[in-house]
Amino acid sequence: MPEKIDSKFVIGLMSGTSADGIDACLAEINPDFTFKSLETFILEYPENIREILFRIFENKTSVEEICAMNFLIGEYFALAVLELIKKAGVAPEEVDLIGSHGQTIFHKPADEYINSLSTKSTLQIGEAAIIAERTGITTISDFRSADIAAGGQGAPLVCFADSLLFKSSTISRAIQNIGGIANVTVLSSEINAYGLDTGPGNVMIDYCAGKFFNQKYDKDGILAAQGQIDENWLEYLFSENYYSLKPPKTTGRELFSAEYIENMLLTAPENPYDIMATITALTAKTIFEAYKMFIFPKTRIDEIILGGGGAYNPVLIKMLKKHFGNSVKILSHENFGISDKFKEALAFAFLAYTTYYKIPNNLPSCTGAKHSKILGKISYP
Ligand SMILES: Nc1ncnc2c1ncn2[C@@H]1O[C@H](COP(=O)(O)OP(=O)(O)O)[C@@H](O)[C@H]1O
Ligand SMILES: [Mg+2]
Repeated sequence: MPEKIDSKFVIGLMSGTSADGIDACLAEINPDFTFKSLETFILEYPENIREILFRIFENKTSVEEICAMNFLIGEYFALAVLELIKKAGVAPEEVDLIGSHGQTIFHKPADEYINSLSTKSTLQIGEAAIIAERTGITTISDFRSADIAAGGQGAPLVCFADSLLFKSSTISRAIQNIGGIANVTVLSSEINAYGLDTGPGNVMIDYCAGKFFNQKYDKDGILAAQGQIDENWLEYLFSENYYSLKPPKTTGRELFSAEYIENMLLTAPENPYDIMATITALTAKTIFEAYKMFIFPKTRIDEIILGGGGAYNPVLIKMLKKHFGNSVKILSHENFGISDKFKEALAFAFLAYTTYYKIPNNLPSCTGAKHSKILGKISYP
């Protein structure tokens, strides 16, 4: 391993709980952690691949299928890299590293035991050996496991990059990502970096957009905008136990599954537009209530910086602005020159860069780990 720290060209790869596709970004990262984003690309999963992934999420699969998909998703991650560098006009030899999150198929952050041994675990597929071989670029992957081994939840990992990108000595910031699941990183001089999953981001919105309107998601909130919030149903949705659980806490499709959403829909209003409005209101409400319960008692927040695909939903943003009022400024990543859609991919580029230089890159105050760790595993081409 090298002794002197240099600038590197690093690719970050991310596919989140939405499983909409692979977000890829190429950045030049410098030793002082300043960076220049050079190119971005999204490789949408083909519909048949998405179908298999959702079958896996819903546990309607086989070990054989999971085994095959690990390598196949690796092929798609490699394709995303090849398309990205083609778009950027650079050769693979010019890229130093890839940091790949992979595709989470199961995340089990709970402390449960078999024979007194912990079964806390997480599984991301997208075989890094395939990515390294196909691209010719050293690939760092499986970042979550080392944090779990150290007693953490293996999430949220993005807090580390958020703290490099957004930490300020004077402004208290909440970096609010709204992907499939919504997660926040709190950066304030009053406390250690802090993070949690607030609950659903788009996972329930996407499901209902598919079920009632045959659409992948509620583009620009057009469906929700045509409905009314059903306050009674919203209260019922909000009675979910997860929302009041104390952090550290992370969640995923294991809780917000198709079965869970179908069960919630049994008491839904009749008008599907009202369902869309209310389910969107749930995302806004769970974000706001999480701040009230777990963040505002610890620190003031001056700015909320929205990111993830949900930052493109104006109905959701309007609801958030109504909750938070004038005391908190609501900004987006774009205000900081970072694409809302690619911050998480960029975060995995930062994780790869720091792992390469053996710089510890989990934040125990966010994940609950007992100590800091160098995350990830290295695959050489
Ligand atoms: N223009 C848009 N309007 C509303 N929602 C959007 C828009 N663009 C993206 N999204 C939402 O963002 C989701 C993808 O966000 P992303 O940050 O990639 O999440 P994840 O990390 O879970 O994959 C989509 O499934 C969709 O719900
Ligand atoms: Mg995504």
